[in-house]
Amino acid sequence: MKTWIVTGGAGFIGCNFARMALAEGVRVVVYDKLTYAGNLKSLEDVAGDPNFAFVRADIADRAALDRAVRGEAAGSGAVGARSYYLQLPSQRVWGEPIEGQPPEPLDGWFGSVSAGGARVLAVFGLYPGRAGFTAVQVDGPRPGRLARQDGTPLFASRLEGGRAAGLHSVAGAEELLELAYRCHALLGPEGPAPGSQRLTAA
Ligand SMILES: NC(=O)c1ccc[n+]([C@@H]2O[C@H](COP(=O)([O-])OP(=O)(O)OC[C@H]3O[C@@H](n4cnc5c(N)ncnc54)[C@H](O)[C@@H]3O)[C@@H](O)[C@H]2O)c1
Repeated sequence: MKTWIVTGGAGFIGCNFARMALAEGVRVVVYDKLTYAGNLKSLEDVAGDPNFAFVRADIADRAALDRAVRGEAAGSGAVGARSYYLQLPSQRVWGEPIEGQPPEPLDGWFGSVSAGGARVLAVFGLYPGRAGFTAVQVDGPRPGRLARQDGTPLFASRLEGGRAAGLHSVAGAEELLELAYRCHALLGPEGPAPGSQRLTAA
């Protein structure tokens, strides 16, 4: 059985994400410092679930995080590749992460990247009329060189709304995976590398 650690899992996005993961049969460890924003009431309905565990700790506490990743939270198994939320550059990316669904401005993505491949589980945006994130399930190796049929370069404006606003755009699962790899590559051991505020075109 898979185990995911959801950092900030007592907050708005985290508790909804944790609930969704539990419903899909994933064991969940919510790791949260319970700041002013965090509230365990938001997880009351899943607190009794045998696949749910809670750790109150700071993500800056390396030792506590390592213990949680090793599965030392009550009832949790060891966690595989570390997943995290990655905020996109301040210039918003206009995306159609699920083909055929309306495009939306993307703020960041949630998932993991390891030597074995990338996984994007959710994208966060500001789409009017729905709560902060859209669940996606995109897994795979790096797509490599992607060519668009309309000849526009990767991450250049392409979608209608993005073109109008001059934004970068991401259309479909493969481009989302490629975006995840590029963002991940910008992260050094100490966090985002200098110059990581921009996406580079293909
Ligand atoms: N809500 C949205 O629509 C939206 C959209 C785009 C991006 N985001 C980003 O996603 C993230 C989560 O958003 P949210 O709305 O769920 O926020 P939130 O404030 O409801 O929840 C944040 C959670 O993180 C916990 N936390 C804070 N500092 C911590 C620390 N040092 N260690 C462990 N836990 C800590 C808090 O206790 C809280 O439970 C934020 O970074 C936010 O900027 C949110």
